[in-house]
Amino acid sequence: MKELSLNILDIAQNSVKAKASKVEILLDETEELLTVAIRDDGCGMEPGFLAAVTDPFTTTRTTRNVGLGIPLFKLASEQTGGSFSISSRDEKNFPLDHGTETKASFYKNNIDYTPLGDVISTVTVLIQGAPEIRWVYRHSLPGGEVALDTDELKAVLGDVPLSAPEVIAWIASYLEEQYAEAGGTSA
Ligand SMILES: Nc1ncnc2c1ncn2[C@@H]1O[C@H](COP(=O)(O)OP(=O)(O)O)[C@@H](O)[C@H]1O
Ligand SMILES: [Mg+2]
Repeated sequence: MKELSLNILDIAQNSVKAKASKVEILLDETEELLTVAIRDDGCGMEPGFLAAVTDPFTTTRTTRNVGLGIPLFKLASEQTGGSFSISSRDEKNFPLDHGTETKASFYKNNIDYTPLGDVISTVTVLIQGAPEIRWVYRHSLPGGEVALDTDELKAVLGDVPLSAPEVIAWIASYLEEQYAEAGGTSA
């Protein structure tokens, strides 16, 4: 993929499909390394399925029988010399504490590093598509931190839905401002 933000979009959409009520997208960035973690409290995956999920021929989708979101994210990190991991607790075995965490790190100076790209659009597309979910976004950069929690927004919005176009536009500019203060999306 041309932008890492599109890989992140795909991984977070898995969390939406898994019926998560809360999804966290956490980016931690230094001059050399970008670490991305996507954590949800969705249905999770059984151990046998989880072991196979990084294989491009595993999916539960019926529209397309080859799932590529996870294998592509893994490839994008490993081709920079970074590492990838996924852990999950499925609903059946862990009824009170289920969910999935997908984590990947990227060496930014590697020639095969894919730039982060338009991560603000990724965040706003996710929120608009699934406003019932609590979205937590955090990106710590060498120059500061960018953060958003839709629960905090909802408390302020009252009756205005999170998915209203003016709210989505406000979220985009709020994130842009924070990035500008933190010295820009250096990735
Ligand atoms: N966060 C998640 N929670 C539960 N199941 C997941 C999650 N992420 C992925 N999966 C399962 O792994 C499969 C493969 O995911 P992915 O590689 O993104 O391909 P696709 O989404 O196209 O099927 C999904 O179809 C789903 O069954
Ligand atoms: Mg997917």
